[in-house]
Amino acid sequence: MPSTARQVGGTHRVPGDKSISHRAIMFAALAPGRSVLRGLLPSLDVASTLELMKALGAQGGPLSADKMTLIGSRRWRNPDRVLDCGNSGTTARLCLGLLAGHPITVTLTGDASLIRRPMRRVTQPLAMMGARFPAGDGHLPLAIHGGQLAPIHWDSPVASAQIKSAILLAGLTGQVPVSITEPMVSRDHTERMLRCFGFDVSTADGRVTFAPNGSVEPFEMSIPGDPSSAVFLAAAALMSSAGELRIDRVGCNSTRIGFVNVIERMGGRLRFESITELNGEPVGDLIVTASELRSVAVSAREVPALIDEVPMLACLAARAAGESRFEGLAELRVKESDRLELVARNLQGIGVTASVSGDQLTVVGTDKPLAGHVQTAGDHRIAMAFAVLGTTPGARIVVDDLSCADVSFPDFAATLNSIFMARS
Ligand code: S3P
Repeated sequence: MPSTARQVGGTHRVPGDKSISHRAIMFAALAPGRSVLRGLLPSLDVASTLELMKALGAQGGPLSADKMTLIGSRRWRNPDRVLDCGNSGTTARLCLGLLAGHPITVTLTGDASLIRRPMRRVTQPLAMMGARFPAGDGHLPLAIHGGQLAPIHWDSPVASAQIKSAILLAGLTGQVPVSITEPMVSRDHTERMLRCFGFDVSTADGRVTFAPNGSVEPFEMSIPGDPSSAVFLAAAALMSSAGELRIDRVGCNSTRIGFVNVIERMGGRLRFESITELNGEPVGDLIVTASELRSVAVSAREVPALIDEVPMLACLAARAAGESRFEGLAELRVKESDRLELVARNLQGIGVTASVSGDQLTVVGTDKPLAGHVQTAGDHRIAMAFAVLGTTPGARIVVDDLSCADVSFPDFAATLNSIFMARS
């Protein structure tokens, strides 16, 4: 059935922040005693992290959005099997950092998408610190043997929180000072979490510096809603015919919400209200109103703060008047899929003029009904972005696999449906 113009409304919630959930479980696994985590994202990616931590010695679970207890330990044990990171790059790269400081040998692998993604960006600095990679270091599966580490000053050629975090976590478990620069600031959840435990982490002149001067003790933590999930509901609301949507308790860390500024430039009406702090992370209520959208130009400098939102922003651009341009998208090619090619190809497949040139994406907006088949290549953010486009008037969009949304947004389809008002 093609969808007709629909109104949105009500107050909603999105599941817990994926980046913060991974890190909270990792820190709990390092804390010798019982930690209590509330608001975790109960998704496949986070389950991968929990399974790894349990195989390395943590006890607890099961993964729950409500309340989960985990008992960690400072000394991790040799697991009795190869550890599977599933689809999760954050699990693989941050765990390599954590493992670098432990004198054990661990082999990590992943699914068909993850074993294609580059790991040398992390193994190279970790090897310089003293970790050993006896059987290759470019891609999973790979073995890491950690232990005694040396300090490092690393200038990362790409802005990546996964690289930065792997080095910070190696500094933590190896008890050595580290510092990192990156061309643009990536999300800073690891720095914030370290500070919550009383560690000094400075960020001066574009360099993050961390000299471990304490220990991770058992803790209680609440996790905000994920802005990268909220953006899908927000986009559906912006493209709806009328109404206002409220999404409560969403993380609004500035290194994550670059999409707000871009959508405002497109003429979209959205704002964060009632901002408070939750364990060192800002959190607020996101209010979104149906809006007429116009095209936008997104520069390379803006990309790190909206890296996971590009598929959704490109789909919004498909419904905005005029030609939009996104620059500096090279990192999109090494996400769960080649997101740059896949976004363009799927937009073309549903009747939108879109093209890729180098690391630049151009999208020409249209108000014609959109129709066609979308190939997700199992990429959750592609699936959700195009499912949202499928809610626009007259759309007949068939997404080949919406179940892959489970890696970051359990119950996505039902939550998306719930924002639309019942027709009378
Ligand atoms: C993440 C960092 C980003 C992001 C990913 C989660 C994290 O990856 O795309 O979804 O939790 O640190 P990069 O560090 O590769 O940019």
